[in-house]
Amino acid sequence: VTLRQQRLELGDIQALVLRGQVERPWASYLLLRITETSRTQAWLARLEAAASHANELADDDDVVGLRRYLDQAPALIATAHPGWRRESTVRSRGLRIALALSCSGLEALKAGPGAVRGLVPEFCQGMTHPHRRRVLRDVEGSAPEEWRWGGPHNPPVDVLCVVFAADPAELRPDALRAALGLGDAGLELVERVDAYLSDREPFGFRDGISQPRIEYEGMPPSPRMLGWTNSVPPGEFILGYRNGYGRLPLSPHVAPETDPEGHLPALPGGQGRRDLGRNGSYLVVRQLQQHVTEFEQFLRDCAEQARGDEHGRPELVGARMVGRWRSGAPLVTRPEYDDPTLGRENDFAYGAEDRSGGRCPLGAHVRRANPRDSLTDPAIGVDRAAAMRRTNLHRLIRRGRVYPAPPADASPQWAPEGETGLVFLAFNASIERQFEFVQQTWVNGTHFDGGRGEADPLLSGHLGDGRMTLPRETLRSRIEGLSRFVTVRGGAYFFMPGLRALHHLARR
Ligand code: HEM
Repeated sequence: VTLRQQRLELGDIQALVLRGQVERPWASYLLLRITETSRTQAWLARLEAAASHANELADDDDVVGLRRYLDQAPALIATAHPGWRRESTVRSRGLRIALALSCSGLEALKAGPGAVRGLVPEFCQGMTHPHRRRVLRDVEGSAPEEWRWGGPHNPPVDVLCVVFAADPAELRPDALRAALGLGDAGLELVERVDAYLSDREPFGFRDGISQPRIEYEGMPPSPRMLGWTNSVPPGEFILGYRNGYGRLPLSPHVAPETDPEGHLPALPGGQGRRDLGRNGSYLVVRQLQQHVTEFEQFLRDCAEQARGDEHGRPELVGARMVGRWRSGAPLVTRPEYDDPTLGRENDFAYGAEDRSGGRCPLGAHVRRANPRDSLTDPAIGVDRAAAMRRTNLHRLIRRGRVYPAPPADASPQWAPEGETGLVFLAFNASIERQFEFVQQTWVNGTHFDGGRGEADPLLSGHLGDGRMTLPRETLRSRIEGLSRFVTVRGGAYFFMPGLRALHHLARR
């Protein structure tokens, strides 16, 4: 079986991994602590039927070709676990949920440490472990001690329940409590964050344009991209499938005695152990506050200082920090002026079109977050194709939303009065090789692509020397005085199990 011929068990994968739930723009993120395990298990058993899986399609083009794939392979739909068709209060109200567990949550449900083996160490250590927070550079105002949830001074978070709604009235606290049956769940609410799916993040740039494309059996051939490939095998995100190295990712597993009814598949090569991880994915959650006023002021100040210069426009300064214009148009294609007709353009490469960064600065956010074919190194034989292959070992599926959610009757001009930002969500099969690597080596990396002392101007410019170099063909100039525009307010690592695994955890 080649990487592209892998058959996904869509009926067992929680929908959020593959689809953005775009038809339900309102979301509540409930961060919960288990106070009584047996009640929580009974609650999970009631709720698992409401967790949606990737077979449930809407007009969401996240996964190109998925609907066609299902039409061709109707038998796959039957692979859903037996519970999912049951009606539930959640479903009858039009809500959809996604469930994930932190390491402590998984241990609580599986009765003590050691019952689950094969979890990746970074998940077990958690985001605030001394090594992990060093890797992530969660320092100063972003230090976990300052967090609202997930930090050492906050109650532990065991369960993440994300509820998606088309009608915000369904998410009012009383309505939600009733729909989810939270009164009797053995759970304490640690924090609730309400967010909204907007195509603009709070700094005003279009978001949600670029996602990796997962290749699997039956997918139509990927569109020809100009100079880069966006296709990655499913094992980069979903456990149980081959990854970019052609191997199966590490998958958590349990003893066969804990699964007498045989709900879980056998662990491949696992001497009788049962595979708890198959069709699951690791989920990184970070609540990122954005300092919009400071950001806007910075763009104006910078433009003012550069008056008369070719980059003396606030919107150009912002575009160079992000790597795209506010409309979304890529700087590589449109280096001087915004062009909203290219607002969703994702077919561009850096190495082929702009190796020196004269169009899109080398340190721009999107170029750091996904350098595509940029990191070539002829001295050691890394050409564009090799650079692209390497980059694709560090991809993320992003599922962020903007907080706070607007009121139901908000006008199109509505703007939040208090704190605002992103609830950043990213799926990956290896937190260390994907999210942490991107954050440490590319976003925060002060030596990224030959740079010296500079970090991502949007997220962490203040962690470097506060500068961003703008390599131009004729001159080199700089953006200076970058300060903190984003502060971490909370975060944790979770595991989002497949539906069979959820079923198993609810019935230990
Ligand atoms: C508040 C914080 C953040 C803001 C405002 C922000 C903003 C943006 C914007 C405007 C885009 C372009 C839209 C798109 O290509 O879909 C983008 C892309 C992206 N961002 Fe962020 N981002 C933030 C945090 C992060 C973090 C923490 C990471 C990972 C460590 C990250 C990783 C990415 C990736 C992987 C892309 C897609 C790049 C591509 O494939 O071309 N972002 N971000």
